[in-house]
Amino acid sequence: MSEPDITQVEIDAVNRVLQTPHLSIGPVIDEFEHAWARFVGARYAVGVSSGTAGLHCAVIAAGVGAGDEVITTPFSFVASANVMLYQNATPIFADIDSQTLNIDPNQVEDKIKSRLRAGARFKAIMPVHVFHQPCDMDPLMEIAARYDLLVIEDACEAMGAQYNGRAVGTFGKAAVFAFYPNKQMTTGEGGMIVTDDTEWAQLFRSLRNQGRDENGTWLHHIRLGYNYRLDELSAALGLAQLSRIDELLEKRERVAQMYNARLRGMPGVQIPFIAPQTTRSSWFVYVVRIASEIDRDAVLRELAARGIPARPYFTPIHLQPFYRTRFGFQEGDFPITEQVARTTLALPFHSNLNAEKIDFIGETLSQILDSRRSLQ
Ligand SMILES: Cc1ncc(COP(=O)(O)O)c(C=O)c1O
Repeated sequence: MSEPDITQVEIDAVNRVLQTPHLSIGPVIDEFEHAWARFVGARYAVGVSSGTAGLHCAVIAAGVGAGDEVITTPFSFVASANVMLYQNATPIFADIDSQTLNIDPNQVEDKIKSRLRAGARFKAIMPVHVFHQPCDMDPLMEIAARYDLLVIEDACEAMGAQYNGRAVGTFGKAAVFAFYPNKQMTTGEGGMIVTDDTEWAQLFRSLRNQGRDENGTWLHHIRLGYNYRLDELSAALGLAQLSRIDELLEKRERVAQMYNARLRGMPGVQIPFIAPQTTRSSWFVYVVRIASEIDRDAVLRELAARGIPARPYFTPIHLQPFYRTRFGFQEGDFPITEQVARTTLALPFHSNLNAEKIDFIGETLSQILDSRRSLQ
C-alpha cells in the first residue's frame, strides 16, 4: 500500500547519530524541532514518540479531564478519539461533509448546541484534516470563538497542506503531525506538536519526559508524565526527510495527478474532491469512491486476487467494536460518514509509484468494475 522514500541522505544522517553517545535527548531533536516550527510557521515544535502521543499531550494541555466532552469527527483514525478516553473525557462526534470528507461545521454547531442543552461541559474541538485536505477552518474557528472552545488540529495526515494559503497547524492553539512510515515523510515512529504558546510548549516538554521540569532535571517529577520522547535516530531521520519535504510532497502530487488522469471519467469511480479553499493538498493517501450500487468489498477482494492491495478507508470510529460496546453506537448514527465509508477505496500510494504501475492498477480496476456491472 505504501513505502517510505529513503535515500542515502537519511541513511547517512542516522549513521552519524549512531557514532555519537546521544541516542535520546540530544542535539538532533532540537534541530528537528526548530526546522519543523519554521516549516509550519509556528513558534514552537515539540517532538514526541507518535502522533497519538502528541494528541494526548495536546488534550491534556487543553485541560480536558473526567466528564468533559470534545467534539471531533467519526471519519478518522481511531487515535483521534481515543485520546479523549485516555483523559476519561468523551469524544462527541459530528458528521462530515460528503465531498471534503472532513467534519462539517454546521453539524459541529448543531451538536454543540444540543449537548450544551443537555448540560455538557465542552473544552475543545478537534478537527482532523483527512487524507490530503484541510478542514473548513474559517467557520470552525468562528464556532470555537462563539462557544469559547479551544481548537486542537489533528494534522497527522496533512503536513504542508494549506487552507486559503495558510498552513494547517497554524489555526488551533496546538496541532499535531505524525511520521509513521506511510506518511508523507517519516521518522519510523514519531510525531510533532506545534503551538505558539510558551507555557504549552513547556508543558509538552515536561509531559513527554515523565513529568520532569523544564530543565529535564533527572529524578525530579513535577506532574504526571509519560515516556513520549522522540529518540535521536528518529529525529535525524525526520530532519533529513524534512530537508527533502518539497520534493516528497511534489512527488506525491505527481502520483495523485497520474491517478486522476487515469481514473477520471471511469464509470463507477469518483476521484478525490479538492475544495476551492484547499490551496495546497498534501497527499497522504489516494482514496477513490466506488459507486454505491457496486459491491466495494468484492472489488477489494478482486484487486487483492490480482496482486493489488487496496483498503476500505476509514472504517468509522463509532462503528469500531470497542466504541459500539462502550457507547452503544450503531449504524445510522452518522449517516454521511457511514455512506462515505461504504464506498471508499484507498489505492496503493507512495512517492515512487510509476506511470506503468498506475496504468496497471487503473486497467485492472476498470476491468473489475466492468465485470461487476455486467453481474448487476
Ligand atoms: C488522523 C490521524 N490521527 C492520529 C494518528 C496517530 O498517529 P500515530 O500513528 O503516529 O500515533 C494518525 C496516524 O495514522 C492519523 O492518521
